[in-house]
Amino acid sequence: MDRNQVVIPPEQIARQREFEKKIRALLEARQRPCQALVETFGCQQNVADSQRLMGMLREMGCAFTEDPREADIIVINTCAIRENAEKRVYGTLGQLTHTKEANPQQIICLCGCMAQQERVAQKVRESYRHVDMIFGPQALWKFPELLYQVCTQHRRLFSIDDEHGTIAEGLPVVRESGVKAWVSIMYGCNNFCSYCIVPYVRGRERSRDPEEILAEVRELVAEGYRDITLLGQNVNSYGKDLPQPMDFADLLTAIDQTPGDYYVRFMTSHPKDAGEKLFDTMARCSHVAKQLHLPVQSGNSRVLHAMNRGYTREQYLEKVRYARSVMPDLVLTSDIIIGFPGETEAEAMDTISLVEEVGYDALFTFIYSPRPGTPAAKLPDPVSREEKQVWFDRLLDAQNRISAQIHAGYVGQEIRVLVDGESGDVRWPLTSRTEGGRLVHLTGDKSAIGSFVTAKIVDSNTWALFGELAEAAPQR
Ligand code: 5AD
Ligand code: SF4
Repeated sequence: MDRNQVVIPPEQIARQREFEKKIRALLEARQRPCQALVETFGCQQNVADSQRLMGMLREMGCAFTEDPREADIIVINTCAIRENAEKRVYGTLGQLTHTKEANPQQIICLCGCMAQQERVAQKVRESYRHVDMIFGPQALWKFPELLYQVCTQHRRLFSIDDEHGTIAEGLPVVRESGVKAWVSIMYGCNNFCSYCIVPYVRGRERSRDPEEILAEVRELVAEGYRDITLLGQNVNSYGKDLPQPMDFADLLTAIDQTPGDYYVRFMTSHPKDAGEKLFDTMARCSHVAKQLHLPVQSGNSRVLHAMNRGYTREQYLEKVRYARSVMPDLVLTSDIIIGFPGETEAEAMDTISLVEEVGYDALFTFIYSPRPGTPAAKLPDPVSREEKQVWFDRLLDAQNRISAQIHAGYVGQEIRVLVDGESGDVRWPLTSRTEGGRLVHLTGDKSAIGSFVTAKIVDSNTWALFGELAEAAPQR
């Protein structure tokens, strides 16, 4: 794909800012200030997208509310990864019939991965007539123009053309925390894992220019952000499509040169493309957190092949061994799917044995959910949901034991943590994260939020550590 067709020209971006002004003028003519609500389902990429939507709404003069009854504009940013996520969105849409009845002027927008699917658009068109506008992730950058059309033409609008993927720079943004920030480095996915809907709704892989990413990171560090997560469906493919190709490890090296007291982490890494160069770079770069989310999905090579993952159990284990040899304190997490179509009990148990062999710090575990339009959804799936649940519970038991054991190993240590928020628990009023991303509930008061401190770990459980504030940590 020609890069000129992928990157939205600055004039087009500027035109959207004009639509924001026009909407602001329309809204200012109303009796009371406009209130907007953005509700986000799904992954960090959606969280980052919602921050852009909020940025655009703020430019239109909107304030934000969490109460749908008060909102003049509601944007539901959806996830399509599993059926459950879709059900929750339909539930939310159902509830909004009441708010719309009470306030017929209310504008309801549906966007994100679920909205990009034709069958969803069709269902919303017919059965959720109170939804005014649907647009997919590809159209996010022109939200102001779409919203302006809905406001002025008073008709429903569907913008889910299967456009090639785009990159839109310079969109306004509302960042929610002053400590942590997300930076998308690439969009889309070319991997077509056989169970996954993402490549169909987020388009082909495209990388942002390294200069844009570096400028954003520098700005965030200058503004005082301390924990920056680089986002992409598969960050290891970064740069393959750039006019002057560079890889993800080169990008990390460049980012690491930004001076300041901050960590940079990233997700998600596909194991097939994560190699020695990446691990050596992580080990070498002082700002790069020694944390790796390396989804294995299954511990059985036949199932991995059927999933189209591009590596075997042994190849995965070898990568983990190498990563740990250069980063002995590496915090390692993974995603697992139990009950892929045709998976046998013995194959599922291979996954548990891999989990035990690796000893992950934490896991994100899922029962397979068929996604219409993906190859796996067409495969015979003879095992009952109940049986899959039994395997799944065994996996959880194994991981819970491992996490509890790893966490217990921290007790007594003094470690550097970043205080990132309040918890509402009087005994441990603060939340913080270790370099590896482990949650530490902490004593102390909120003046510490945003600083690195030394925590003495006094207790732990399966999910978290508990620490006492020892002192402000020295600069690294
Ligand atoms: N069913 C269950 N889990 C899935 N994931 C992706 N697609 C599916 C599906 N159809 C999981 C994978 C992925 C994570 C984001 O969601 O583990 O890594
Ligand atoms: Fe889905 Fe696989 Fe792409 Fe991840 S790498 S988004 S699991 S297709």
